[in-house]
Amino acid sequence: MNTASLAIQTSQVDLQLQKLHAKTAKVGVIGLGYVGLPLSLLLSEAGITVQGFDIDGSKVSQLEQGTSYIYRIPSTEIERARSQGFRATSDFSLISEQDAIILCVPTPLTEHRDPDLSFIECTATNIAPWLRRGQLVVLESTTYPGTTEEILIPILNRLCPEGLRAHEQGADPDGNVFFVAFSPEREDPGNNTVARRDIPKVIGGHSPAAGLLASALYSTIFGKTVSVSSTQAAEMTKLLENIYRCVNIALVNELKMLSQRMGIDIWEVIDAAATKPFGFQAFYPGPGLGGHCIPIDPFYLSWKAREWNFHTRFIELAGEINEGMPDYVVQAIGEALNTVRKSINGSRILVLGVAYKKDIDDLRESPSLEIIEKLQHERALVDYNDPYLPTVGRGRHYNLGMTSTPLTHLADYDCVVIATDHSDYDYATIVSEANLVVDTRNATRGIVSTKIVHC
Ligand SMILES: NC(=O)c1ccc[n+]([C@@H]2O[C@H](COP(=O)([O-])OP(=O)(O)OC[C@H]3O[C@@H](n4cnc5c(N)ncnc54)[C@H](O)[C@@H]3O)[C@@H](O)[C@H]2O)c1
Repeated sequence: MNTASLAIQTSQVDLQLQKLHAKTAKVGVIGLGYVGLPLSLLLSEAGITVQGFDIDGSKVSQLEQGTSYIYRIPSTEIERARSQGFRATSDFSLISEQDAIILCVPTPLTEHRDPDLSFIECTATNIAPWLRRGQLVVLESTTYPGTTEEILIPILNRLCPEGLRAHEQGADPDGNVFFVAFSPEREDPGNNTVARRDIPKVIGGHSPAAGLLASALYSTIFGKTVSVSSTQAAEMTKLLENIYRCVNIALVNELKMLSQRMGIDIWEVIDAAATKPFGFQAFYPGPGLGGHCIPIDPFYLSWKAREWNFHTRFIELAGEINEGMPDYVVQAIGEALNTVRKSINGSRILVLGVAYKKDIDDLRESPSLEIIEKLQHERALVDYNDPYLPTVGRGRHYNLGMTSTPLTHLADYDCVVIATDHSDYDYATIVSEANLVVDTRNATRGIVSTKIVHC
């Protein structure tokens, strides 16, 4: 390398950095769901021109009409982003116009609970032919360590225009290369205690130049970026965070079941323990794990660990306890009905809340769905109410075909089950009107009534 080529070498990265700092870079966001849509809005709000991509034509057309399909995102925010240039499309040829491309596609489990990377593979296949020199590609989907390097980059390299390659550490950054990084999404939907821009953004570049570009991109919308040494370290960081939650929730669920046998109020215990100013973080029991992340992500790591002949015992045990919670709830409902000389079979049961947690409209992996299915299996007549989800149709793991029932005839039900503690519910009224209440979330805390059974 001579001095002249060194001068040229930095130019491509410098040019991209300048564009990112000046917010004149164009950013493509692929997958306009719970992660990709808010991210697009955040980028638009920062003054960046965003082109959204999604294979779901109905989402694209709604966004093109300025309409939101996510409860907590008002349509006015879509309209505002549109006035700043935000557009949605299924036309992947527009990838070539972008300076940076962020992938926010799903990473679920297959029927056999193995990682399903088909969405990442499909996206890589769709964008590769349109890649060009100097672009930055960032994967945000939660996945096992090695996905960026072992799955994403090989597809991009194989299908991109001839001569173009992902930039490797030590290679010429001013060559015919694009740059690749991994940066996990760490948002907690419905949690408004921390503004999104105040959640530090972890970034791992496939090469130092890729890391530099990704940091510049995310610095436009996040207060702090945290660079790690590799894409694998960034992938593992996200899994550590979610496994930490999963294991601690399992622990507190186990202690809840024990406390109930011992006649101790676990919620009182957690509140007391949480007064310790160090060494303890409160986690709360519930009817089981839900959402796209905590019930799924740990199994991405246990699957990958098998390649290394390693058995992830904590993950398996936590999974076992958490997955058993809907059964525990159904058993508690049976025991509660038994005290009033009724059985699940033939009882009318109202389940409150089908979203996987309070104040959101997301029912992916929600334990409420499993509880409803189990109650129906035991021949209960089940209705549900959820202010955020007027209907529950068919998903990957359920087929309910139900409509939310109004909260007007609570006395008609033999049992009301609080599965999700939405803030909209008036718990005092629910307890006073219902015949029997099984509370899985301690939502009736402070209400004294013999009708309440905590589980
Ligand atoms: N939802 C969360 O709170 C959250 C938090 C942190 C991380 N994550 C992770 O972020 C990723 C995305 O999650 P999400 O909740 O936004 O999922 P989502 O299902 O809400 O959205 C994904 C979007 O990608 C689209 N899509 C699928 N395949 C595509 C393709 N080939 N090309 C273009 N678009 C495609 C879908 O139509 C959908 O609109 C997942 O890996 C998830 O684990 C999610």
